[in-house]
Amino acid sequence: MRVLGIETSCDETGVAIYDSEAGLLGDALYSQIAVHAEYGGVVPELASRDHVRKLLPLVKEVLQQANMTGSELDAVAYTAGPGLIGALMVGASTGRAMALAWDIPAIGVHHMEGHLLAPMLEEHPPAFPFVALLVSGGHTQLVQVDGIGEYTLLGESLDDAAGEAFDKAAKMIGLHYPGGPEVARLAEQGDHSRFRFPRPMTDRPGLDFSFSGLKTFTLNTSNDLKVDGELSDKDRCDIAAAFEDAVVDTLAIKCRRALQQTGFKQLIIAGGVSANQRLRDRLEEMVKKERASLFYARPRFCTDNGAMIAYAGCQRLMAGQSSDLSIQCQPRWPMDSLEPIAKG
Ligand SMILES: Nc1ncnc2c1ncn2[C@@H]1O[C@H](COP(=O)(O)OP(=O)(O)OP(=O)(O)O)[C@@H](O)[C@H]1O
Ligand SMILES: [Mg+2]
Repeated sequence: MRVLGIETSCDETGVAIYDSEAGLLGDALYSQIAVHAEYGGVVPELASRDHVRKLLPLVKEVLQQANMTGSELDAVAYTAGPGLIGALMVGASTGRAMALAWDIPAIGVHHMEGHLLAPMLEEHPPAFPFVALLVSGGHTQLVQVDGIGEYTLLGESLDDAAGEAFDKAAKMIGLHYPGGPEVARLAEQGDHSRFRFPRPMTDRPGLDFSFSGLKTFTLNTSNDLKVDGELSDKDRCDIAAAFEDAVVDTLAIKCRRALQQTGFKQLIIAGGVSANQRLRDRLEEMVKKERASLFYARPRFCTDNGAMIAYAGCQRLMAGQSSDLSIQCQPRWPMDSLEPIAKG
């Protein structure tokens, strides 16, 4: 089955074609970072308008990459939520209309299910069941995954998501949006022993997270060091290192607990923050001690992309699921309300 995947939930337009036999046949991505950079965050109306401009050119590009015409596709999968409603509607209505024109089924896909299944696109994919750490711009969740659509939430952030915390910490030390990758870059040059930032909620049992206290600690440290309202380059790097260590340590402690609690031996990490090299290294060390294995997607498929939506949609379509002609998007959509797929 060959599925066109469309992702437009936030500030990336992603399109890909996934073939259940041959794997990925095409994949194109356009990031709106430059559009939103001057505002320091995503402006929803600008995001919707930019998706309108870029979506069809990207569809043409992936069809060319795959050396196919639209009528050779078997289905269309589009992100139906969670995300920005206007942005979601662009992908959903375009995807639905193309499927109608080509007379093929379409399916609305849950964005976080897409992230969660992205490591399946790699050469050595995990096998169910596993523990998933979803760490993105809008989510920080630990999920027990028994199969597609069989998700039990083990813990989540009570306030900011990990990626959001990275972005806010970046802003505090004068870096541009989105700051996560920039913080990681500065942290490489930082002195990791100069500061020790708190590891929130690690001293009590449970699998929930909280990053707002760490954010305030970062702000106070940065304000104390400022001279004439400016931080030195060294201070910036040292704060980035201390902040990254605190987030990475906190995530690793909770992942270890989740593996011990479930007895599972596989951990997958997905979402933008799973591209962080220090997090990957720290989790590799941890799973080794737990005699478990770690799985993640290539960096391009950690942040938003069309390939993960094509893949997730394909799994559900092959199990006989599809969406009707109505275009329904859900800005908020709990992942544990999803239907399991029937096992053959
Ligand atoms: N190397 C990195 N280190 C730390 N954070 C990173 C890195 N690369 C990306 N990020 C962060 O990942 C986030 C973007 O990830 P993603 O695209 O998955 O999130 P989103 O789609 O905005 O949110 P959601 O998927 O929850 O709706 C941003 O917060 C960004 O700063
Ligand atoms: Mg995302």
